[in-house]
Order: sequence, then C-alpha cells, then structure tokens
Amino acid sequence: QRDLVRRGRLSDDRTGEVAHFLSSMAADHRIADMDVLVDMAHLLMLERQGIMVTDAAQAIMGALLGFHRDGVPPEAYDEEFEDIHAGKEAALIARVGEEFGGRLHMGRSRNDEVATCIRMRLRDDLIALMEETNDLRGVLLALAGEHRETIMPGFTHLQHAQPTTLAHHLLAYEAAFGRDVGRLRDALVRLNECPLGAAAFASTGYPIDREMTASLLGFDRPMGNSMDAVSTRDFALEALSACAVEMATLSRFCEEIILWSSAFVRFVTLSDGYSSTSSIMPQKKNPDTAEISRAKAGTVAGAFTAALTITRGLPMSYNRDLQELTPHLWQGVTAARESVAVFAGLLRTAAFHPEPMAEEAAVGFSTATELADVLVREFGLPFRTAHSVVGRAVRKGALDLDTVEASAVEVAGISLCDRGLTAERLASALDPAVSVASRGICGGPAPAETARAITEREDAL
Ligand code: ARG
Repeated sequence: QRDLVRRGRLSDDRTGEVAHFLSSMAADHRIADMDVLVDMAHLLMLERQGIMVTDAAQAIMGALLGFHRDGVPPEAYDEEFEDIHAGKEAALIARVGEEFGGRLHMGRSRNDEVATCIRMRLRDDLIALMEETNDLRGVLLALAGEHRETIMPGFTHLQHAQPTTLAHHLLAYEAAFGRDVGRLRDALVRLNECPLGAAAFASTGYPIDREMTASLLGFDRPMGNSMDAVSTRDFALEALSACAVEMATLSRFCEEIILWSSAFVRFVTLSDGYSSTSSIMPQKKNPDTAEISRAKAGTVAGAFTAALTITRGLPMSYNRDLQELTPHLWQGVTAARESVAVFAGLLRTAAFHPEPMAEEAAVGFSTATELADVLVREFGLPFRTAHSVVGRAVRKGALDLDTVEASAVEVAGISLCDRGLTAERLASALDPAVSVASRGICGGPAPAETARAITEREDAL
C-alpha cells in the first residue's frame, strides 16, 4: 500500500471509488504549503526538546525545504491517500527513508495538523479580504469626495422620499463595509490560537513545547484544551458568517448598480471592462459583474449554512464529518474575496451621471418633508398639522402657493399667506439643494457634513 497510514491495520482491498469518496485531496491543495510550515515547526520543536535525533531532523528538514521551495511533490496528491498529510508523509519517507522520515509524526495527529493548517490558511484569506474591503472603502470615499454636491433622490420603499447626495449614499455603504472589516478582525483574533499538540484529542505524552510551535507559526498562543482544539470549527463558522454578512451588504449595492445602470434610471454607466453583451441582441450592454457578485452572496450564505449544518450535533471530539466542511469554507471565503475585489474595480471605472440624478431628486414631491418643516419653523404650525397641510396639497396634485394655502384653510382653518408665506419662500423650500443643505447635522447629507464625515472615515481607514 502506498498510503502508509492504512498499511498496518487495513487490507488493501478498497475500490478507487471509495478512496475518492473519502479523500480530502481536492480541497487539500489549498493547505499543502501551510502543512509544510507546520511540519517544519513541529520538527524544530521535536529536535529542540531532544525528542528527535539531530541526524533525522537534518534529513527531514532538507526534504521539507525542498517541498517549501518547489511545492509538495505531485505524487503526494494522489487520491489513494486520504489527505495531503498522508501523501506528504509518504513523499517524505520516499526521499529520506522510513528510519528518519517515519519519526516526524511523533506527538501529533492529522487532527491537530489539519486544524492548524486550516487556521493558518484562513488567517491569510481573512487578512486579504480585509485589505480588499479596505480598498473598496477607499474607492467609496474617493467617489464620495467627488460627489458631495451631486443631488440625487433618496428612497424608502423604493419610492422617492427625500433628496440626498451621492456622497451620502456612498458613505452609507462605506460605513457598513467598515463594520464588516471589524467583524473579520474579530474572527481573526479568535481564530489565531494554535491547535498543534492536541494530537488526536487527548494531547500527548511526549514532552513537546506547544508555546514554541504556536509562536513559530505566528499564533498568539496554543489552544487551551486539546479536545476543543481538534473538534471545533467555530472559527470557520465565524469567518463564514462575517463573509455572509458582508456579502449581504455588497449584494444590496450590486442591486442598486444594476438598477441605476438601466436606461430608465441611467444614474451610472459601467465601463465595458465590467460589462457583457448578448449573443442575439447586438445593442446590449449588461451589468453581469454586479449580477454575479449579487449571486455570490447566495453562494456564501449557502457555504455558511452548509458548514453550520455539518457541525451541529457532532459529538466530541474529532469526527470525519469535519473534512466535509472545509471545501465550503474555501468556497465561501473565495467568493467573498473575488466579489469584493471585482466590485471595487467596477466602481472605480464607472461613470456616474449627476444630471438625471438631479432631475429625479425633484420629482415625486420629494421635498414635501422640508416644506412641512418650514411651515413648522417659520409659520408656527405643529408638525402634524403641517404634515396634513402638505399632504392634502400633494393629494390635490400641486405644491404651488394657491394649493398649499387652500389646504391650510381646509385642514387647519388658517391662512399661511396671512402669516407671510410667499411664492418665493415656497419655491426655495421645495428646492432639493436647499433641503439637502439644511440637513447638516452629524450623519446628514449636507455637503459640509459629508466633507467632515469623509475626513473622519479616511482617518479611520
Ligand atoms: N483529512 C482530514 C480532514 O480534513 C484530516 C485527517 C483526519 N483524518 C482522520 N482519519 N482522523 O479533516
């Protein structure tokens, strides 16, 4: 048998179908490089502790350095092996002999080995996703800086609601992505503990130094309980949930970009590099990158759901079910990373169109709230009365002086004209730019306030 792990206990009569079914090799490509580093740390520690004779340590390190430089040799990836750990050990023994190479697995198990590899690889992926998300945040802040005066309609229920600015809209997404980075960082802090030394689950009788391997591999500390160390994948669930939450936000933005790029909205034009066309309709330019990113949110949520469902109900400690989780982890994290990176490029190269945005900001009576506020502030009406006066005028179909005055008489029995309302004052109350400029409190869309917010967020970034 080439799989030396099976050699002692099991006969050779296993079909290729079963070997393929059991092997994690397809997903193990992702952790092979980490596994070589784990081997090196474990080896150095065994030698330092006097557990591994120096001759063997030197021979093994020579082979491992070769694997590190050139990659784990192809024969180690055969699905005849249950996993890369078994395949790599066989490749090592083929190079330095079993007398030396057969000593590396002292004081460890594949259970602590694989958990360590996954944490290390995930750590790199999470850091990369944080960087990619911060890059996207930088694009948003730069665009916001260019569009502080770009008036656009704001919506609730996807109905015209109140005017805002494109900067305000972009800053809303930047705030959400900032929290996403916070969640990824939290996941990173908790995952950065080292399972190595837990062995199968009950730790080991060898006098190993868990602090040393943990620190060599960049972990903050060894995990405190060896049973927990091999059996939990909560770190993967936490990372996937952070990815799923981020993707939920990204997919909202994708939805808006798709809507905005439509000819009946035309707020944005995507660059050709991020667009597709049709095989039958020669005129078509489609926002496929935004659509695929929107769909990836489903992929990531599915990966999280699969991982959570695989872990639920598992008894202590290691169960092979955990192997089935790992591909979902990589699929989810990869989908999030690719989507965020592509979307940043889409935004960076998109052209926004202030004119149709400004046109839309004025339709649908979207400054009615500001008019009601003016009736409160300058003409002494209670807000609910002003709300009814303006609402009645909208029902009549106009916010001109005659209609507003008639509505005030009907609703409240008062004359606004007697109190000094003029056509000019009414017109300025209905101007979207005036409405936006008046909303200068913390968090609002007024250009002075978004300027302050952009500076604050750039500092935070
Ligand atoms: N390939 C396994 C995994 O991905 C690790 C090895 C544990 N195998 C075992 N038979 N205990 O979880």
